[in-house]
Amino acid sequence: MTVGEGAALAGRVALITGASSGIGAAAARVFARQGATVVLAARREDRLSELAAELRARGAEASHRTLDVRDGEQVRRTVEFTVERYGRLDAAFNNAGVALPRTPMHLIDDTDYDRVTETNLRGVWNCLRHEITAMLETGGAIVNTSSVGGLVASSTAAPYIASKHAVIGLTKAAAVEYAPHRIRVNAIAPGLTRSEMIDDWFARSPENEARAHRSAPQARAADPEEVAEAAAWLCSDKASFVTGATLTVDGGRTAW
Ligand SMILES: NC(=O)c1ccc[n+]([C@@H]2O[C@H](COP(=O)([O-])OP(=O)(O)OC[C@H]3O[C@@H](n4cnc5c(N)ncnc54)[C@H](OP(=O)(O)O)[C@@H]3O)[C@@H](O)[C@H]2O)c1
Repeated sequence: MTVGEGAALAGRVALITGASSGIGAAAARVFARQGATVVLAARREDRLSELAAELRARGAEASHRTLDVRDGEQVRRTVEFTVERYGRLDAAFNNAGVALPRTPMHLIDDTDYDRVTETNLRGVWNCLRHEITAMLETGGAIVNTSSVGGLVASSTAAPYIASKHAVIGLTKAAAVEYAPHRIRVNAIAPGLTRSEMIDDWFARSPENEARAHRSAPQARAADPEEVAEAAAWLCSDKASFVTGATLTVDGGRTAW
């Protein structure tokens, strides 16, 4: 891998959660290409180790840790691992998340509600607290993955929509509170993006795909790299005056 022109993340140490597939795996490649040392985290060890090996083979510095973001203790150990191994934490992309099969709100059971909110909201909470602790002296940049579902509602996804709205709230709260420590905290709100989550959804009903494409002016799904590029930019000094923001990467979906 050639570290690209400008190498916006050269010398930065970045932790990426949800790095075993989709947007997070694309982010691992984009961040590494832009010069970052990356620590990849998720639950599927085989995926992480394969991706870390791929990045190292291309000349990047990459490690992986298995992690369930719902468990604050595991998050703490992952952040500690990063700081012990690489000396500091400069950037974090809190991207791990889950969705449910689309279900009317009154039929969703509490276990599913808990799984979504524990992963998407408490997971970001757990990550933020330990990452901020590690960045207090040095400053840094954090990006949380929300969704267009964090800005507008759609039917039959209530826990997901609530959790992604809350991620934007947490992002703003952290941005305001830690600006004096030179820690920037932003969110991205992706629209429809090709990933396992979306491929599963399309596989269940081919009509879903055509309908989803019609929901945005650009009328297609994003490649995960297009979303990862936005996260990398927010983590870089090129976004030095951007904090507390939510950047839509949605093909115009929320402009309609
Ligand atoms: N694809 C879209 O259209 C879209 C749109 C808006 C927002 N998003 C958001 O983008 C993020 C990434 O999703 P994706 O689309 O790339 O789907 P994906 O391929 O299913 O990726 C989800 C990632 O989250 C990880 N993860 C899930 N639960 C976890 C847990 N408890 N602990 C640690 N890691 C966990 C998964 O890894 P393991 O299973 O290995 O743990 C996987 O790496 C999510 O937050 C999602 O809500 C996606």
